[in-house]
Amino acid sequence: MYILCTALLALWTAHAVVSQSQQHAWWKEAVIYQVYLASFKESRKENAIGYGDLDGIIDKLDHIKDLGADIVWVSPFYHSPLKDMGYDISNCDSVDPTFGGQLGDAIRLIREVHKRGMRCIHDLVINHSSNRHPWFLQSAESKTNEYRDWYFWRPPQYKNGSRYPPNNWAGNNNGSAWKYDPKTEEYYLNLFNPFQPDFNWENPDTRQAIFHDALEYWFNQGVDGFRMDAFTFYSKPHGLSDVPNCPDGEFCDASSLYLNGPREHEYLQQMNRAVLSHYMPMFTVGEYGPTYDMDIIQKCVGASRNEINTVFITNMCDIGRDGFNPVPWTLTGKGGWRDAINFTQAVGSVAAGDGSISRFANDSPKFRVQSGKALAMMLSTLSGTLSLYQGQEIGMVNVPDSWPISDYRDTYSTVYYDEALVAGGSSVGALKNLSLLARDNARPPFNWNAKEEINLADQVEDPDSVYRFWKPMLRVRKAYKDLFVYGGFEFLSLEGEKFLIYEKAAGKAKALVYINLSERTGEPPVPVPKEGEILFQTHVDRSSSTFEPFEGRIYLMQ
Ligand SMILES: *[C@@H]1O[C@H](CO)[C@@H](O)[C@H](O)[C@H]1NC(C)=O
Ligand SMILES: *[C@@H]1O[C@H](CO)[C@@H](O)[C@H](O)[C@H]1NC(C)=O
Ligand SMILES: *[C@@H]1O[C@H](CO)[C@@H](O)[C@H](O)[C@H]1NC(C)=O
Ligand SMILES: *[C@@H]1O[C@H](CO)[C@@H](O)[C@H](O)[C@H]1NC(C)=O
Ligand SMILES: *[C@@H]1O[C@H](CO)[C@@H](O)[C@H](O)[C@H]1NC(C)=O
Ligand SMILES: *[C@@H]1O[C@H](CO)[C@@H](O)[C@H](O)[C@H]1NC(C)=O
Repeated sequence: MYILCTALLALWTAHAVVSQSQQHAWWKEAVIYQVYLASFKESRKENAIGYGDLDGIIDKLDHIKDLGADIVWVSPFYHSPLKDMGYDISNCDSVDPTFGGQLGDAIRLIREVHKRGMRCIHDLVINHSSNRHPWFLQSAESKTNEYRDWYFWRPPQYKNGSRYPPNNWAGNNNGSAWKYDPKTEEYYLNLFNPFQPDFNWENPDTRQAIFHDALEYWFNQGVDGFRMDAFTFYSKPHGLSDVPNCPDGEFCDASSLYLNGPREHEYLQQMNRAVLSHYMPMFTVGEYGPTYDMDIIQKCVGASRNEINTVFITNMCDIGRDGFNPVPWTLTGKGGWRDAINFTQAVGSVAAGDGSISRFANDSPKFRVQSGKALAMMLSTLSGTLSLYQGQEIGMVNVPDSWPISDYRDTYSTVYYDEALVAGGSSVGALKNLSLLARDNARPPFNWNAKEEINLADQVEDPDSVYRFWKPMLRVRKAYKDLFVYGGFEFLSLEGEKFLIYEKAAGKAKALVYINLSERTGEPPVPVPKEGEILFQTHVDRSSSTFEPFEGRIYLMQ
């Protein structure tokens, strides 16, 4: 799947615990560029179908390189019924016709990325497969099929003569996480969706087959690593016991039982020994989600653990939301945005993402460009691996709230909408919420040319554009990597709702970052330094003691 946040905005990567965050590694210094394939670029002209394809990425690799990216992360292109935009895979060693259809396209993409001195990573979706995957089709054939145990099949429970699922786990939509298959009169486990049955990782043959098909196959084609979808779900608890205290006859959220399951680290270490360690220097980044638990993260990414290089922590973009309902959020206080930033820095992390202008700054025409630059400055000065989402480099913003529900493509959005209306909510209200928080906000087509207001072609020419800010900003980040990639982080002020002031330090060198994230605040809680040169700024030639809306400056002190 694809945790809400990841597509939406800000991807925060934690690359190591405090003690290791200064340890150098190529992937920490790298800038990741995430391509959401379906809406990036379509190369087909005559038979265009309105979806991006792999050749389209190749067409635009020079743009990605020129921006300053080092790693191209390509979202799933594998053969798939596309019920979850490719996160439901029916054959992971193939290319879906929607995205080009030819295996050779994917191999050529890897080669073209390498030719430009970048590295290529794929999405690894292995906690589940499509229900059209040949392994699942076999598994569903009969109770004695050799693939039966590759998924979780269990007999029904009968209560008062009625058939019930094997346990009380709720699936994604609060119904049962089990689907009954009349053919063999058993249920199979599908935590996310009936068309994405969960793999049974307990079975060593299943693991070997996954390692072979999903990992080795692509390493042998030259891929440099993976973004690991939902890795915290691989290991299900032994016995699949009921959620305690769940009312009789209801289904309850079982994530506390299956998140970071008992054998997770064993599986990850086995994957490392069996495959990853043979393809160094490779790179893995796991999809984690929100957490403030340092120990859990340390167990996954600690340098001596041999599990995952880094994980995306989504504390910063999961703030201000309850699913697709917006909730108030603050910069200050426990669980506020500063806390979220501080945690990612304490574990040595960073990120980026589309839609962040609409969520965390101001996407009105008056402030949009300045907002994009202010957020770019923030992300580029935080420690860790920086991950940019396509379109962010031109400051693309959310979809308008005038979009009708028929324009939304993500099933999460339509399910939310239907449920909101059933619960008596208004259509206008639901669409307003979706236009702020739906995953669709990060998925409209990339605007390459001047057909749309926010587009790359114009911004390349415009010295005041968001694009023309990102490019040099990324170069500054790399030129001062000791400060910005590896430097120690500290807030210089915890006061106020809309002003961020922090220090990055490496030895005697220091950078002070001031960002006015507001249209309305007072003086900076900490005056600007008297000495020190301005290394980089969002506005031209300003050094006054006050800041314009969304103005940012980096002072270099050495
Ligand atoms: C796989 O991962 C997703 C999270 O991305 C999780 O919600 C789901 O329960 C897991 N299983 C399936 C079958 O999708
Ligand atoms: C089974 O029937 C008994 C008696 O009618 C009732 O108390 C109980 O709640 C029922 N159980 C279920 C699971 O429906
Ligand atoms: C799922 O159940 C929980 C707890 O009963 C409830 O708060 C939530 O609104 C439900 N969600 C949906 C999508 O029905
Ligand atoms: C930031 O995180 C570090 C490490 O967890 C902690 O020691 C420090 O108190 C935090 N700072 C703030 C301002 O919360
Ligand atoms: C939209 O979000 C608001 C704020 O969280 C919530 O109160 C409201 O119910 C949501 N609207 C609909 C129609 O779901
Ligand atoms: C941030 O910008 C606003 C202008 O909208 C200004 O009123 C405010 O004083 C600025 N903040 C600081 C600390 O200078």
